[in-house]
Amino acid sequence: MQSYVELFNLGKTYPTRERPLDAVRGFDLRIARGEIVALIGPSGCGKSTVLAMVAGLTETSDGSIGVGNREISGPGPDRSVVFQTPSLLPWMSAYDNVMLGVEQVFHNSTAEQRRQIVRDHLAQVGLTHVGHTMPSELSEGMQQRVGIARACAVAPRVLLVDEPFDMLDFQTRMDLQDVLLRILERAKMTALVATHDADEALYVADRVVMMTSGPEAHVGDVVATPFSRPRTRADVLGHPAYPELRGRLIDSLDAQGPPSAELDESRARTDEGVWGAGPAEDRHFKTEGVASHLAS
Ligand SMILES: Nc1ncnc2c1ncn2[C@@H]1O[C@H](COP(=O)(O)OP(=O)(O)O)[C@@H](O)[C@H]1O
Ligand SMILES: [Mg+2]
Repeated sequence: MQSYVELFNLGKTYPTRERPLDAVRGFDLRIARGEIVALIGPSGCGKSTVLAMVAGLTETSDGSIGVGNREISGPGPDRSVVFQTPSLLPWMSAYDNVMLGVEQVFHNSTAEQRRQIVRDHLAQVGLTHVGHTMPSELSEGMQQRVGIARACAVAPRVLLVDEPFDMLDFQTRMDLQDVLLRILERAKMTALVATHDADEALYVADRVVMMTSGPEAHVGDVVATPFSRPRTRADVLGHPAYPELRGRLIDSLDAQGPPSAELDESRARTDEGVWGAGPAEDRHFKTEGVASHLAS
């Protein structure tokens, strides 16, 4: 397998009040071009930490990250993130939220080409008719669709997806898994999708990478899924290997158990902590930082 994304001996140490916390250590992973890898592990094991390092939004403490044979150092045009909460700019319509990044990235294209990119991506996430609606008037699921459109419209090589369906009800969650899968397949994007849901991991991924619970979290068991793509839920659920694979993932999650007390202690800072604290807008501008990098 020729790898496109290479995470080599990745490590992250967080300073905490007591003593430094080695959240991630010796994390090794290669991802082929166009491959979708699910990163599964219990809450607090370090999934967001790994994603944020690949996004270049958090510094690594150890190891290196290569994308397309180039070592990365900071955010770049080739990587985009779908966050746990969509963090759209509240004063801009869905359309304008997507256009924001597109304007920065495709500044050499014509205005009509940019409008076409935005329309096309809103259509791909099923939002053609609500483009001019403000985020506050959209359901959480629809906001997350905008989040997916925004991340994909800038044409990243690698999409990093951090448990974006966590807050959603069961049906919406399944709908959005389909939206994500279709958009990834269509653009032949490489993706790393963090989740703690075995069914979600098996449905979206070519390979499921289980993370050990921290501290010093690293890659544990790895499972290649036998479902071809493009796939439907019926293909996956009806596959003879599905029950066994699902059982294996759930056993692995159970075996990891809840995060250790040491991790629990620093938990208060977790979700905001990894991607940077502060209001949603700040995080959004951080993402836009990725896009403005593209323009330069
Ligand atoms: N900024 C931070 N400072 C200190 N500890 C942190 C910070 N961000 C995350 N952590 C700790 O690192 C561990 C991994 O967190 P995280 O990557 O968010 O896990 P996951 O995404 O799997 O839930 C957790 O124990 C968390 O409390
Ligand atoms: Mg997380």
